[in-house]
Amino acid sequence: MKRRDFISWVGLGWIASSLPIAIAACSSETTTPKPTSSASGDWQKVGTTAELDKTGQLVANDSPVGPVLVVGKSQSENLIAVNPTCTHKGCTVAWKDQAKKFACPCHGSEYGADGKVLKGPAEKPLKTYAAKIEGNSVVVKPS
Ligand code: FES
Repeated sequence: MKRRDFISWVGLGWIASSLPIAIAACSSETTTPKPTSSASGDWQKVGTTAELDKTGQLVANDSPVGPVLVVGKSQSENLIAVNPTCTHKGCTVAWKDQAKKFACPCHGSEYGADGKVLKGPAEKPLKTYAAKIEGNSVVVKPS
């Protein structure tokens, strides 16, 4: 085999072996749909009615939508559900049933049942979720 033939043979081999990768790279950018946010828009199970009814609160730290604190009973008309991560520095807030508000143990921020800031230093509201009972499950979705 002549040197020129060898170089063109190797070059052709390289192109041929790279082509599927190049096609795959291009096609994934142009034809594969990007992941949708449908998972975050759907109702997600965060626990059971038995867990909720035990104390009137249900904490799910690893739910599909992130940390969730659900307050209420399975027979409640309006369940309250928030991300209990304080928006000030990230401590976990607790529900104060008597006062009907969330309180942060770290620096004293307080939030209403709707997640809105009642008292600083936090400035941003807690993330809230719609919550309901489906069979024996407590389910939430971003509101
Ligand atoms: S972390 Fe909650 S008030 Fe500072």
